Amino acid sequence: MKELRHLMTPLDFSVEELERLFDQAGEIERHLPDFAHMCDGRILATCFYEPSTRTRLSFETAMLRLGGKIIGFADASSSSASKGESVSDTIRVISCFADICAMRHPKEGAAMVAAGRSEIPVINAGDGGHEHPTQTLTDLLTIRSLYGKLSDFTIGLCGDLKFGRTVHSLIHALIRYQGVKFIFISPPELRVPDYITELLAEKGISYEEVIRLDDCLPDLDLLYMTRVQRERFFNEEDYVRLKDFYILDKDKLSRAKQDMHILHPLPRVNEIAVDVDDDPRAAYFPQVQYGLFVRMALIMTLLDMTDDHMNHGLLRW
Ligand code: NCD
Repeated sequence: MKELRHLMTPLDFSVEELERLFDQAGEIERHLPDFAHMCDGRILATCFYEPSTRTRLSFETAMLRLGGKIIGFADASSSSASKGESVSDTIRVISCFADICAMRHPKEGAAMVAAGRSEIPVINAGDGGHEHPTQTLTDLLTIRSLYGKLSDFTIGLCGDLKFGRTVHSLIHALIRYQGVKFIFISPPELRVPDYITELLAEKGISYEEVIRLDDCLPDLDLLYMTRVQRERFFNEEDYVRLKDFYILDKDKLSRAKQDMHILHPLPRVNEIAVDVDDDPRAAYFPQVQYGLFVRMALIMTLLDMTDDHMNHGLLRW
């Protein structure tokens, strides 16, 4: 029997495997109808113990577009977690119903605990302030599609770098590519965690930390904006003080390079003014679409229905 594969962090896939996944996502983008029955008869469970719009709906749409079906819950209070059931027990139960599970949880490491007891592939759809690997797959595919490469650029990551799990996963993924320079833009209270800067230093990867976006905007090839995450603060006062620390508007953007694309995992609050949305450099809505294709490719990969099946003619092109 094939080994069960999960996705907890982007590092669970080698760079070569990621390339294959992105190629597959590209095929899906170009030939969407050809994939409409790839997962006929399969079931995806989405177990979301924390709010989500994009990630959950993106997973569900991905499975539906592959011809599969979906079950799950979008709110811990409507699951047996509200009765005190552990994540380990829940996943053992879900394993009896579904073929694959995407799980989001407010506690760091929850998806990993689930994977340890699961009989089906588990995808970490965000665990607290820790990791969010499928957002990273989305981000990498978007960058690769926009720039044709994943190396040799300067990326500014701006906003809540302390609690932002999308940022943590993206940094981990990007350090495997050549010539990526990081500029971390955050207020001192929301600096990127020490374990990440220590890792960069250890690997000899160059990074800078700045407080003002203005200090580095003209130098960036890519800007990754994030929201200040109210739900991760211990007190409201700190959140209110920091929530509007960065606002990217048209005026500010005039100082950036003409081909500096702006990414954002969304949801956006105030950090990008809506007048930026019409700028051709605003890539955060197309990014959502890439998230769908890459999740379709991921589901197929974890269910082991990619190359072999294609070689055996299951695809009709
Ligand atoms: C992010 C998340 O949930 O971590 N959103 C997402 O999944 N697209 C970012 C956020 O909530 O700010």
